Amino acid sequence: MTQDELKAAVGQAAVAYVQAGSVIGVGTGSTVNCFIDALAAARVPLAGAVSSSEASTARLRQHGIEVLEPERVERLGVYVDGADEIDGRGCMIKGGGAALTREKIVADLADQFVCIADQSKRVEVLGAFPLPVEVIGMAAAQVARRFAAIGGQATLRAGVRTDNGHPILDVRGLRIADPLALETEINQWPGVVTVGIFARHRAQVCLLGTPQGVQTIRY
Ligand code: 5RP
Repeated sequence: MTQDELKAAVGQAAVAYVQAGSVIGVGTGSTVNCFIDALAAARVPLAGAVSSSEASTARLRQHGIEVLEPERVERLGVYVDGADEIDGRGCMIKGGGAALTREKIVADLADQFVCIADQSKRVEVLGAFPLPVEVIGMAAAQVARRFAAIGGQATLRAGVRTDNGHPILDVRGLRIADPLALETEINQWPGVVTVGIFARHRAQVCLLGTPQGVQTIRY
């Protein structure tokens, strides 16, 4: 099976986690696009969706799914999103698509994070994928120096601004054995808007696409 077929399979599988009549949280990326398309094809009646990016908002609306502002929603039953890496505890690296800040905000509203990923995303230790960090522009060099001090090489993602208008640093060379501790530490650095470690907002369920079928992993 191709990676695209695995993404389509997990996108389809995630539809089972959507309750008719509910408001759901929707992530960003190519795997989430498969989920949005599968959701629309299944014609699950929804009260609406809270979206994590302009791109997902546009796709949801194309399918006639109402997009609600987060301030209109107190809690979400489920948030469905992809990941760049996911470890054995459900901790993730996210932000390859530059939507990490809004993804963390929407994930924070949800009772359950359902991660949809093809098997290439499953890792033992996070960090082979460059860690995305959204920063305030004037702090980029300062934050990069802090990463250098802990062994990371940070580079600005060329030509990219997030939906919030900020640049992204991609940090290579980190071996993230304790995601919760590193997320907590980086969250304290002035100028960091969001670090792409999702340990505080880790997945409760991962639907992992493999050639043998979709594996459901609960954490
Ligand atoms: C966007 C993300 C995505 O979930 C992550 O990059 C995975 O994307 P894809 O499903 O295209 O592989 O964090 O900011």
